[in-house]
Amino acid sequence: MASKGRVEGKVVLVTGAAHGLGWADAQALAREGAQVILADVDEEEARRLADTLPGAMALRLDVTCEVQWQGALAKIMQVHGRLDALVNNAGIAAFETVEQSSLESFRRVMSVSAEGTFLGCKICLPALAASGAGSIVNIASAAAIRGNPTVFAYSAAKGAVLSMTRSVIVHCQQQGYPVRANVVLPGSHDTQMVRDAYRFAPPELREAAQRHEGQPEHVADLVLFLVSDESARLNGAEIVIDNGRTVA
Ligand SMILES: NC(=O)c1ccc[n+]([C@@H]2O[C@H](COP(=O)([O-])OP(=O)(O)OC[C@H]3O[C@@H](n4cnc5c(N)ncnc54)[C@H](O)[C@@H]3O)[C@@H](O)[C@H]2O)c1
Repeated sequence: MASKGRVEGKVVLVTGAAHGLGWADAQALAREGAQVILADVDEEEARRLADTLPGAMALRLDVTCEVQWQGALAKIMQVHGRLDALVNNAGIAAFETVEQSSLESFRRVMSVSAEGTFLGCKICLPALAASGAGSIVNIASAAAIRGNPTVFAYSAAKGAVLSMTRSVIVHCQQQGYPVRANVVLPGSHDTQMVRDAYRFAPPELREAAQRHEGQPEHVADLVLFLVSDESARLNGAEIVIDNGRTVA
C-alpha cells in the first residue's frame, strides 16, 4: 500500500504560484498529496503548470483585488468545498532607496505584498476556520528585519506582513478560530526577482547574498512543513531561512 503524503487531501491555495518560490511550493505540496490551487496574475503559466501536477487547478488572481479574492474563494469552495491552508506568497520588489522611491512605486509594492496578504487573510479566514485546522503561511523576507537600503518599499511591505500576522493570530485566538499562522523570511533564493535584485545591488551586498543563496526548493520544504500537521504547535513563528546570513 502506498504511504500517505505529508499533506494528503489538504486543499491549499498558493498565490504567485506561476513562477519562483510559489511554483516550488506548489510542487512540494502536490508531491505530498495536497490539492493545490495555483493563483497568479500570469494565468496562462499557472494553468500550464497546474496541468502538470496531480489534483491541481489554476486561478487568475491579482492579490490586490478584493473582488478577485472573493471570486477565487467561491471557486475553491465550489470545486473542493473546503480550504485548509493559504500561502500568501505573491510579492513584487522595487529596487529603490528611500530617496529614489516615488509615492506611486511605494504604493505599488505595498499593494501586492501588504494589501495582498491582508486581503488573503481577511477573505480566507472563515473558510480556514471551518476546515477545523487552518494554516496560514505568510511569505515575508529577511529584508523585513535587516536594514537594506536598496529595497526600501519592499522592506516596509514585508515588515507589515510580520505585524499583520501577529494581529491575525491573536484575533483567531480571541474568536476561537482553529487557525494558526506563521511567517517565512527568506534570504536570497534563485528566482527572477533575485536575479533582478542583483543587477541593482552594490557588489559587496550582491556577493554576500550569493554566498548564502539557496534554491526555491529549500523554501518550499519549510512551507510544506508549516502547512502540514507536523507543525501543528507552531503558531506565530517567524522563521528566517537564509543559511545564516542574517546572524553573520
Ligand atoms: N526569491 C527570494 O530570494 C526571495 C527572498 C525573500 C522573499 N521572497 C518573497 O517570496 C515571494 C516569491 O518571490 P519570488 O522570488 O518567487 O518572485 P518571482 O518574481 O519569481 O515570482 C513572483 C510571482 O508572483 C506573481 N505576482 C506578482 N504580482 C502578483 C499579483 N498582484 N497577484 C498575484 N500574483 C502576482 C508573479 O506573476 C510571479 O508568479 C515574494 O513575496 C518575495 O517577496 C523571495
